[in-house]
Amino acid sequence: MEALSLPKSWNVDQILDDLDQHGFTVIDHAYPAEYVQQLMQECTENLNRFRDAAIQNGVISKIRSDHILWINEDLEIAQQHIQALQQLVQIFNATFYLGIKEIEAHFACYNAGEFYALHRDNPQGKNGRMISTVYYLHNEWQDNWGGKLHLQDKNNVWHTLEPKPNRIALFQSDLLHEVLEAKHQRLSITAWLRSDTPIL
Ligand code: OGA
Ligand code: MN
Repeated sequence: MEALSLPKSWNVDQILDDLDQHGFTVIDHAYPAEYVQQLMQECTENLNRFRDAAIQNGVISKIRSDHILWINEDLEIAQQHIQALQQLVQIFNATFYLGIKEIEAHFACYNAGEFYALHRDNPQGKNGRMISTVYYLHNEWQDNWGGKLHLQDKNNVWHTLEPKPNRIALFQSDLLHEVLEAKHQRLSITAWLRSDTPIL
């Protein structure tokens, strides 16, 4: 994959139109098979470094039970995904004047039985998260494996999105959503497009 061009399968007009009309969009077949394989390998090689997402700054929360690994320069394959998102940021800033400056991202692993209860990534504009993106990187996802993303759009209509492999769900960070309990291991990268510098 070329580092600095938008992947061919990303339909920018559709993405902008969906975001404008509904506050969310879905990009399917996001990356070429070779890249998907490399990313999956990088994720699974590092699974032993994932930490309990419910514990942040020593505070334990009951609303989520997944495990995460924050992405920095040492995760070179995942960085290419962030670079692709960076291309979208330029378009979003030019179109919606979002003032996005930063991307923060982590891998997430939901093992069987794990979930993320109803929440907003940016309640009441408290942090700089403008747009949330979730890329699903497991090889397979069957309909009865749970783990669906349940999302309320900007018109208050609820949608159920399957975590299909090689799909990106992209939504306004102020929208209400949840991850239903997964029945199989569910692997993803969550990335937030932020209008400020993240404080981790
Ligand atoms: C999150 C989140 C949704 C998903 O990481 O904040 O809501 O489908 N993820 O994994
Ligand atoms: Mn979320």
